[in-house]
Amino acid sequence: MTDNRKRVEVCFTPALFDLYKEDFDIIVVIDVLRATSAICAAFDNGVEALIPVSSIETAKEYQANGYLVGAEREGKIVEGFDFGNSPYSYMIPEIKGKTVVLSTTNGTKSINIAKSAETVVIGALSNMDVLNEWLIKQNKNVLCLCSGWKDRFNLEDTICAGGIVETLMETGNFMSDDDSSVAAKYLYLSAKENIFGYLKASAHRRRLKKLNLNKDIKFCLTANTTAVIPLLKGDRLVNILK
Ligand code: MLT
Repeated sequence: MTDNRKRVEVCFTPALFDLYKEDFDIIVVIDVLRATSAICAAFDNGVEALIPVSSIETAKEYQANGYLVGAEREGKIVEGFDFGNSPYSYMIPEIKGKTVVLSTTNGTKSINIAKSAETVVIGALSNMDVLNEWLIKQNKNVLCLCSGWKDRFNLEDTICAGGIVETLMETGNFMSDDDSSVAAKYLYLSAKENIFGYLKASAHRRRLKKLNLNKDIKFCLTANTTAVIPLLKGDRLVNILK
């Protein structure tokens, strides 16, 4: 009997992406702390489009052309830019209807390396339910690309990816082959009742706490606060649930 189920897998870091990229139709880019959570917050607050750029130089070029530009490195706002990577920077009325540019340490780079895929969407804990619902309807091979930290594994992105694997597999229409996906699913299952508490162990959470960014951490680690699915169209993300 042929197996018609689609695959859902997890790539732990962008450094491993080349091993997976040929096999998947949809890539979900995840950077829970904080890039993809901030992106979801921006769309939830009416941003028209968001252009993710990898380098500060490109971000500066957009700024010189009159765009609102956010730039973050090592968790901090890069000097000279309008804002950084806090979800709260995108919850302001001035941003409604605008196209915003964003460059972050890991998240926007992952979006740009995923570009070769047919479809790239943004995943975070904050849009998990709407995203899962949409992924189930697409019925295509899905890769969750965790942004990690400078090409290293991180807990928060893996747990979010594990939530996607678990929900898609529960439908019976998806399967996974890789141990990374099994590990992500088990991590999610042990964390899901208290994600905030579980992620006290996360290195980036500790990094952000040192920068007094507890409010951001709380927002990013709370599930289903936004009903958006940012999808990459050319060089920019747009919200397909608008
Ligand atoms: C990133 O893209 O590396 C993160 O979002 C970093 C941060 O929390 O600012």
